[in-house]
Amino acid sequence: MITIKDVFEDYKQLKKVYEDNEIEAITLLTISEITQLSKASIKAFPEREISNQQAEQLKNILTQLLTGRPIQYILGITEFFGLPFKVNPSVLIPRPETEELVEWILSSVDESQKLKAKSSKQFTGNMLDIGTGSGCIAISLKKNLSNALVSAIDISESALQTAKKNAILNEVDVNFIHTDILNYHPAPHSTLPAPQYHIIVSNPPYVTLTDKAQMHSNVTDFEPHSALFVPEHDPLIFYRVIAQFAQSNLQPGGLLFFEINESYGQETVELLQHTGFINMELRKDMSGRDRMIKAVIR
Ligand SMILES: C[S@@+](CC[C@H](N)C(=O)[O-])C[C@H]1O[C@@H](n2cnc3c(N)ncnc32)[C@H](O)[C@@H]1O
Repeated sequence: MITIKDVFEDYKQLKKVYEDNEIEAITLLTISEITQLSKASIKAFPEREISNQQAEQLKNILTQLLTGRPIQYILGITEFFGLPFKVNPSVLIPRPETEELVEWILSSVDESQKLKAKSSKQFTGNMLDIGTGSGCIAISLKKNLSNALVSAIDISESALQTAKKNAILNEVDVNFIHTDILNYHPAPHSTLPAPQYHIIVSNPPYVTLTDKAQMHSNVTDFEPHSALFVPEHDPLIFYRVIAQFAQSNLQPGGLLFFEINESYGQETVELLQHTGFINMELRKDMSGRDRMIKAVIR
């Protein structure tokens, strides 16, 4: 019979792909998903036996992990902002730094007098998430601001399909729209709703070829390139276009939030300054890297 301890031993083969602390976290998560045991119980009872079928499933997952395939894609599910999200190779795996961005938006809604809401729960404004992917930002916002009207766009039909499933999974209503923001031209019969947003947020593609060389192959080989990469000669293309879009689609005093490439913090601030934004705030993530910006439209 195979025990939990045996699985941990077997998963040590992942040293070829991951650091020790990552192996521990991946092994725990995988055993928990397959056996439905809590992580605490797995740790407390390493001698517990698992069934042959579970042992087979865990072996199969290990084989996939050894190719570098991220555990979130193998399991088809991940957690973001305390909520479950289906993921597959058509969407970026939501990152912890993006949770910090959502947290910042929610606390700004709480603080802002301009948004005229007594509490975040009563906030009834319009919000737009550009490049929604799995829908993680839009869905987390809607879950926490139940009266807000939340729209989300993406160029990828398959990403939008996943985002729609995630909205159903989390029991929220988000207006998903298929649009290429780089070629967006407002038209009389545009599918985008009324253009007066209180908040626009985007975590757009921002990885350059130079960054790519330094990235782990389990990101570059498995995650969607259309979600990640920008031309080396124009790394801020999405920020420029989205800032211009936001300038004409935000209400006066409305807020724009960006997740950014840590190497372009100052350039992104200057770009926003030139596009008519004020009160730019550049924030570091929990690992101390410039990662997000908040700006106010005049
Ligand atoms: C970095 S991912 C962010 C996904 C998700 N918002 C998150 O934070 O995990 C960027 C997203 O932008 C989308 N995208 C790329 N080019 C786009 C375009 N021209 N117009 C609209 N969305 C685009 C990609 O499909 C991808 O889902």
